[in-house]
Amino acid sequence: MRDRASDLPIAFAAVSYSAGPVMILDRISLMLEPGAPTALIGPNGSGKTTLLKLAMGLIQPTSGRMTWGGRSGGPPVRRAFVFQKPAMLRRSAAANVAFALSAAERSADRATVNALLEQVGLGARASRPARRLSGGEQQRLALARALARNPEVLFLDEPTASLDPSGTKAVEDIIAEIAASGVKVVFSTHDLGQARRLAADIVFLVTGRIAEHAPVQQFFASPASAQGSAFLRGDLVI
Ligand SMILES: Nc1ncnc2c1ncn2[C@@H]1O[C@H](COP(=O)(O)OP(=O)(O)O)[C@@H](O)[C@H]1O
Ligand SMILES: [Mg+2]
Repeated sequence: MRDRASDLPIAFAAVSYSAGPVMILDRISLMLEPGAPTALIGPNGSGKTTLLKLAMGLIQPTSGRMTWGGRSGGPPVRRAFVFQKPAMLRRSAAANVAFALSAAERSADRATVNALLEQVGLGARASRPARRLSGGEQQRLALARALARNPEVLFLDEPTASLDPSGTKAVEDIIAEIAASGVKVVFSTHDLGQARRLAADIVFLVTGRIAEHAPVQQFFASPASAQGSAFLRGDLVI
């Protein structure tokens, strides 16, 4: 599997996305490189989810051009996406992972399913109905399903949005391990602490434009944009 062409870097060249008359992303130029995670931050409605969907290939730009490893298009076999509110199949945790493995044309044998559940700390929950798991456990199960695709790039949309601190910590630890294993993680968050803890670089979006793209220390120590400073102070940025 590993000899397939790489999807990285993911390059956006003057990519815009509009829905009817509404411009949602405006001339985005961005390189998502292999390595440590990239965090997308910015006010609600700034276009984070839309940018993730474009990078995954779920939607197409209205104008501009995108490439994955220098190639345009192609099936996103080595990319995986975890939505903000993942939908669980009405089956056990193990069956959810088995289904994801089958969908990725991988063997859904018990050992592989268990290894994925162990990786997200759900080894003891294998036979539980997925929909009865806690919010944090469901988010971890969604990560296991995404990992069933053996991805090179993993997109996470607000991975801990509705979790308490302990649930957040568990998910962050798993994301850090996934990233350390060599998977490129690109995530959106409104948790600035999380961006600081997990990411190497920050893409700061405001009303569909990249206001700033900087290494994490640089962004938090001395944002280059007035909007970045305002956002870090907790002021409303619109
Ligand atoms: N399909 C769509 N049709 C119309 N407006 C949309 C559509 N998708 C997103 N939007 C709007 O685009 C803006 C950016 O959305 P989104 O990417 O979800 O931002 P974020 O994830 O940063 O909150 C929002 O104002 C949203 O309401
Ligand atoms: Mg969003």
